[in-house]
Amino acid sequence: MGSVGAKDVPVLLTPEGRRIDGRKLDELRPIRIQAGPLHQADGSAFVEWGANKVMAAVYGPREVHPRHLQQNNKAVIQCRYNMAAFSVDERKRPGLDRRSQEISKVIAEAFESVVFAEEYPRTSIDVYIEVLQANAGTRCAGLVAASVALADAGIPMVDLLPAVAVGKVAGQIALDLKKEEDNFGEADLPMALVPQSGRLVLLQMEGHMTPEELSRALDLGVAGCTVIYGKMKQALRDRYATTELAGGAA
Ligand code: CDP
Repeated sequence: MGSVGAKDVPVLLTPEGRRIDGRKLDELRPIRIQAGPLHQADGSAFVEWGANKVMAAVYGPREVHPRHLQQNNKAVIQCRYNMAAFSVDERKRPGLDRRSQEISKVIAEAFESVVFAEEYPRTSIDVYIEVLQANAGTRCAGLVAASVALADAGIPMVDLLPAVAVGKVAGQIALDLKKEEDNFGEADLPMALVPQSGRLVLLQMEGHMTPEELSRALDLGVAGCTVIYGKMKQALRDRYATTELAGGAA
């Protein structure tokens, strides 16, 4: 069904420039962000992005565990990205594999660039990201969810961190790859941006792009991040408005 050439490789781009789900090259998948769905966490957010479903919870600033990670001059930011065993087609082995550890590390480092950690010495800011359903771009969805959750927890930051992956499919640079595009495409470039300064605080690359393609990919990614940034701010505004209404009604 829908295959050409090599067995099981889907048509990633039609002659009219439409992608496997009908999107244009510069189009994002639909994104819905909810701030504050978890009441026990200090801050939380739920992101549905295409077929990705990602929950983030933030706790802190609080006591550091394990204690030896404590820093006298700033808060430590600890991040745990986890994919649920049921989040992918083939059951994923539960637990922290190398991929999850790497993603946790790059996300924590991205937040270290924007959180005012020196305001909370000897504490920990704990960020949990649970991927409930995965369809490529989960580290970006996780970053977006965690970023809104950090803001929901009232953690002071330079800015929110919108993120998106740009890639190369059928020889063309495309925004926000879905699973088939990630699997059968030629490159994947996840990025996270500080909108205020335009600084990239996460940039990874799998596959190959020419310098011109990279430049086009960065432009497309920055444009995508700008749209996502708007949705992140709106999610926080909506949360605030609901709280005010609930407070007023009580
Ligand atoms: O999710 P992201 O694109 O940030 O990371 P990736 O390592 O490039 O993974 C791409 C996609 O492969 C994931 O979003 C999942 O849909 C899928 N995947 C999977 O099916 N099983 C795994 N153990 C890991 C990833």
